[in-house]
Amino acid sequence: MQGRRAGTIRTYDRYVVPSYRRSPVVIVRGRGSRVWDEAGRRYLDFFPGYAVGGLGHCHPRVVRAIAAQARRLIHIPNTYYNPLQGRLAELISSRAFPGKCFFCNSGAEANEAAMKLARKAGAPAGRHEIVAMEQSFHGRTIATVTATGQARYHEGFAPLLPGIRHVPFGDLGALRRAVGPKTCAVMVEPIQGEGGINVAPPSYFAALRRLCDEEGILLIMDEVQTGMGRTGNYFAHQLYGVEPDVMTLAKSLAGGVPIGAMLAATRFADLLQPGTHASTFGGNPLACAAAIATFEAIEEEDILGNVRSMGRRLRAALDRMAAAYDFVREVRGEGLMLGMQLSIDAPAVVAACLRRGMLTNATGDNVLRFMPAMTVTAREIDEGTGIVRAVFDETARGGRAKGRRGRR
Ligand SMILES: Cc1ncc(COP(=O)(O)O)c(C=O)c1O
Repeated sequence: MQGRRAGTIRTYDRYVVPSYRRSPVVIVRGRGSRVWDEAGRRYLDFFPGYAVGGLGHCHPRVVRAIAAQARRLIHIPNTYYNPLQGRLAELISSRAFPGKCFFCNSGAEANEAAMKLARKAGAPAGRHEIVAMEQSFHGRTIATVTATGQARYHEGFAPLLPGIRHVPFGDLGALRRAVGPKTCAVMVEPIQGEGGINVAPPSYFAALRRLCDEEGILLIMDEVQTGMGRTGNYFAHQLYGVEPDVMTLAKSLAGGVPIGAMLAATRFADLLQPGTHASTFGGNPLACAAAIATFEAIEEEDILGNVRSMGRRLRAALDRMAAAYDFVREVRGEGLMLGMQLSIDAPAVVAACLRRGMLTNATGDNVLRFMPAMTVTAREIDEGTGIVRAVFDETARGGRAKGRRGRR
């Protein structure tokens, strides 16, 4: 088994671009919150698919929908109609806000579409600048990596897209100063995911909405990570009672099948007339069938209710750890999108969790990111937080941090 794993890794080393830092685990099977490696070892997955696994791995409804659709029709070009794309667009719009969808294959492409739409909307008034946030993450294409407010993702790719400014997330004064006569849109994640599970107060979003209305510019919300129930609401903007003009989705939208979507309020959506934008694979029947099955699962299995109750359980466990270990600085987030700010090396904690059979993630500046499947059970939450606690105990004993804060 060891040999098979080594063989797979060798093949990657030889034939796959080394643009990812990979853990030495070869995963071959998944179900719910569990995955198995080549040797048959089982892991608890507390970060399934970088937020793609909203329904966990291989949700039976999604598997059935994919299998049935694959037998019927996998792909047709967007120059014809298919009932599934229309049905999915209706589902997204009816659960979010009135508008029309453009479909693509990833979060970056959805944001790219949003940025193009904003420029198209601003063009008659000579407005082309987009204000985005520091610590944001919007993708890896040249436009979306420019919008991404983290310098380390820019290195080596200059010149980036002109016309994008960054302001600190949550700083209304800075935003007001940055928005000017050339601005066509403000782009923001309702909760910053890759940037470290950063939250802003609801009043920030209400003020942001007012500012965009006053200036006549688009409010783009990137819900690629927060969307589809993650925060206990279908979409995170609903947490704040603020409706964007454009929302982007990807990740968990189709239960693991690649998809991206941009929903735009109709008055903007209709600017994308034939010839302005396209995607060959975008919204193909296979991806749409999987996404429709994802909506059905969310609604028929009360997934949002599970996110809220399991989110409370996870939060309580993390808060107890924050009280017990002085290297835990803060716990933040919503629903099942929680981050734990550490003063110790978060990637080392992730590696220790892996050794104990749990997959999780570190992001931002030493933030442990917990985004278990929205189908996660109480037992799995307890098991996962038990593993983190065991790692923290080990860390505290090893003297690598200041240690435990008295008794729990
Ligand atoms: C908020 C946000 N937007 C966009 C993206 C980019 O999505 P993709 O990797 O599908 O292009 C990500 C990916 O992590 C994300 O978290």
